[in-house]
Amino acid sequence: MTSTLLTNIGELLTGRVGDEGPDLVADAALVVDGARVAWIGTAAEARERPDALAADQHVDAGGRAVLPGFVDSHSHLVFAGDRADEFAARMAGESYAAGGIRRTVGLTRAATDEALLANATRLVGEMLRQGTTTVEIKSGYGLTPYDEARSLAVAQQLTPETTFLGAHVVPAAADGGAGDAAAYVDLVTGPMLAACAPYARWIDVFCETGAFDADQARAVLAAGAAAGLRGRLHANQLGPGPGVRLAAELGLAAVDHCTYLDDADVDALVDSGTVATLLPGVEFSTRQPYPDARRLIDAGAHVAIASDCNPGSCFTSSLPFCVALAVREMGMTPTEAVHAATRGGARALDRDDVGVLRVGADADLVLLDAPSHTHLAYRPGVPLVAGVWQRGRPVLGRV
Ligand code: NIG
Ligand code: FE
Repeated sequence: MTSTLLTNIGELLTGRVGDEGPDLVADAALVVDGARVAWIGTAAEARERPDALAADQHVDAGGRAVLPGFVDSHSHLVFAGDRADEFAARMAGESYAAGGIRRTVGLTRAATDEALLANATRLVGEMLRQGTTTVEIKSGYGLTPYDEARSLAVAQQLTPETTFLGAHVVPAAADGGAGDAAAYVDLVTGPMLAACAPYARWIDVFCETGAFDADQARAVLAAGAAAGLRGRLHANQLGPGPGVRLAAELGLAAVDHCTYLDDADVDALVDSGTVATLLPGVEFSTRQPYPDARRLIDAGAHVAIASDCNPGSCFTSSLPFCVALAVREMGMTPTEAVHAATRGGARALDRDDVGVLRVGADADLVLLDAPSHTHLAYRPGVPLVAGVWQRGRPVLGRV
């Protein structure tokens, strides 16, 4: 096992809270042992510590800011084709409609497993180059037992955080679907779940007008739980609805979108501890109003930021872009936004080993060509990620 002393870190953002240690350390140093963080302190302290100095290799971070690798807790990377024409139409005044999902379903079913894996692998690579070291990937563009299962088999080759989203939209009868929602829910909770459960950790439902209602979502989540899958929801994206309160009632790890919330929704999130995962790239790409992160944080809710990378509502793989949007449009401070994209995403996946730099956590590091994490929002669109370490290994950049 190799150990590394990383020193000359201009600013270290750890994501630690309370007695875990300080969140921000100036002129910091960090020891990585194998895949894990072994020690965190200042560079001056490291110079006095024989155990730190005894590390197998010493790496100079060049005064860069270092933060935990981003945890993208919501993406749909298993698909074929794109829907750039829909984006262009939206920018010309059309509104987003969930029915566009069916176009991607047709293209995905026609693609080979190899083509789906190649596309998803390319997107995970894009994410890595922008600092994402943990990603959740959903199915949801297959919508048959066979196509959902093979989508999840592809996802499982790229991440352990796989989510069965057979309940994405009801496929049209012409697409080989049951044509009506009740019959489709029976398919999702029966043969489709049986085919998919071996490949999935999570189960998700698009609980929204035009997709699935609260009773259908409850039925899908209950069947998933019986098959050993943990629940999460897409909810309150296109308008107010019951999904956020359902997620809170069921104690789900996360409910995602949360664009339209009333006071009862916010109270339910605070009381349950369910993470509100905000996806500002979606609002950017659909010209919807942004969710009010400030209201959620001030009320005491847990907040995550994720990309929702998908070919329809939001085709960005960039969490730095989402952080910048969250700061500019959702009332978050730069520090809150980075926490939401790191430790917040980890909480949304019920993980405490990633998204934070503390002793024993995975050594997933992002090195910025910038003196502080604030530059992620201050310099939007600029490729600041100079290096990425994943589980203790440099996977990108010179440092
Ligand atoms: O999270 N909201 C539902 N599903 C995706 C969009 C999928 C699509 O438009 O292809 C989302 O935004
Ligand atoms: Fe989504």
